[in-house]
Amino acid sequence: MSSTAVLGCAWGDEAKAKIVDVLAKDADYVVRFQGGNNAGHTIKLKDKKFVFHLVPSGILYPGKTCLIGSGVVIDPFQLLAEMDGLKAQGISFENRFFIDPRAQIVLPLHCELDGKAEADSKQTNIGTTKRGIGPCYSDAIARYGIRFGDLFDKKYLTERLENIIRYHNYPISDVSIVLEKLEQVTEQLRPFLKQIPYLLNEADDKNILFEGAQGTLLDVTFGTYPFVTSSHTSSGGIAIGTGFGKKVDRIVGILKSYYTRVGKGPFPTELHDEIGNRIRIQGNEFGSTTGRPRRCGWFDAVAAKYTSMINGIDEIAFTLLDVLSGFDTLKICTAYKIGDIITNEFPHSAKDLEQAIPQYIELPGWNDDITGITEYNKLPINAQKYIAKIEEIISKNVTIVSVGPERGQTIFR
Ligand code: IMP
Repeated sequence: MSSTAVLGCAWGDEAKAKIVDVLAKDADYVVRFQGGNNAGHTIKLKDKKFVFHLVPSGILYPGKTCLIGSGVVIDPFQLLAEMDGLKAQGISFENRFFIDPRAQIVLPLHCELDGKAEADSKQTNIGTTKRGIGPCYSDAIARYGIRFGDLFDKKYLTERLENIIRYHNYPISDVSIVLEKLEQVTEQLRPFLKQIPYLLNEADDKNILFEGAQGTLLDVTFGTYPFVTSSHTSSGGIAIGTGFGKKVDRIVGILKSYYTRVGKGPFPTELHDEIGNRIRIQGNEFGSTTGRPRRCGWFDAVAAKYTSMINGIDEIAFTLLDVLSGFDTLKICTAYKIGDIITNEFPHSAKDLEQAIPQYIELPGWNDDITGITEYNKLPINAQKYIAKIEEIISKNVTIVSVGPERGQTIFR
């Protein structure tokens, strides 16, 4: 058995799906362990474009089995809609897609509560995707959640729905409405029920690939709390989000060559000028889930060092390097000034991070189009120097460089 994890090391949207897609070639199982359909991955294969929210992108390889672990929250209606879309593009799910019975169900009331919380001026506005993620995880922790396995036992499901509906002060007559809605999808989902912990831990002859969603700076504990998502996006989330009881052999951290963020929250290196705009346009930095323009900024090595540490990263995949072509100068943030103190520790408090003034070093850029380059030493020397500087600061090696959205636009070192 071998196991690899691919984890976003910033605020999500690091082009993880592209790297998962490249590494999935050698995997038998591709596994999601956290998050829900708040995630959005796009994969380009020749002239076709595939968009994923819940289904692991490994499904694009015909022989691979894709798994949704206990740590994921599932909106069953959205899941089936996504599967229908993929089926229409020729993808088969039969005997190669399974869901752990412990995964929590996102109910329509969770989406409603998410929307209400975002609209309430007395609450901290996070800028969520309004997919019901936070309320669903809250109910799971409060022990009111409905789990995937519950869908297939009507009596128990009714009791659980009564419980959660009472808890949220909705009228009890809603139980039959929700029940009826869920019953429309139950039979379609039944074939996918499987105890994932047994499948993974007994997979002696299999290669497992864990696919992270969002990024470490959105982790509910180690991210920029409260401006985070509600799951454990860091490597620690793998164990509780799948039941995999072994050490992951290889942890690949994904960093893109600049930083982005969607939604609210501190972002020290954010650029509010023409350069930020240029990065947004060159990198097509618009959300694949919500379409929102992403906030863009320089590479933050303080944050990258912190997320590499939290995740126990073994190596880095460096993505979207092509987007930085054509800039005279590139900046890397190596420390923060917070009040009178210069620090290279990532603050635990979003309030402190909000005050952080980035301390930059400057490096010369490059003009060449690098999208056709397939060997590391053919990259412009300034691009190599840019990567080498980041490796030096965060003490990790970049082993994969992505220079475009296609599978082939990937350099292995
Ligand atoms: P939620 O996950 O919808 O609750 O949103 C919480 C925060 O995480 C918001 O700032 C979202 O914009 C952000 N977020 C959630 N999913 C993603 C993602 O896949 N990429 C980037 N940001 C995300």
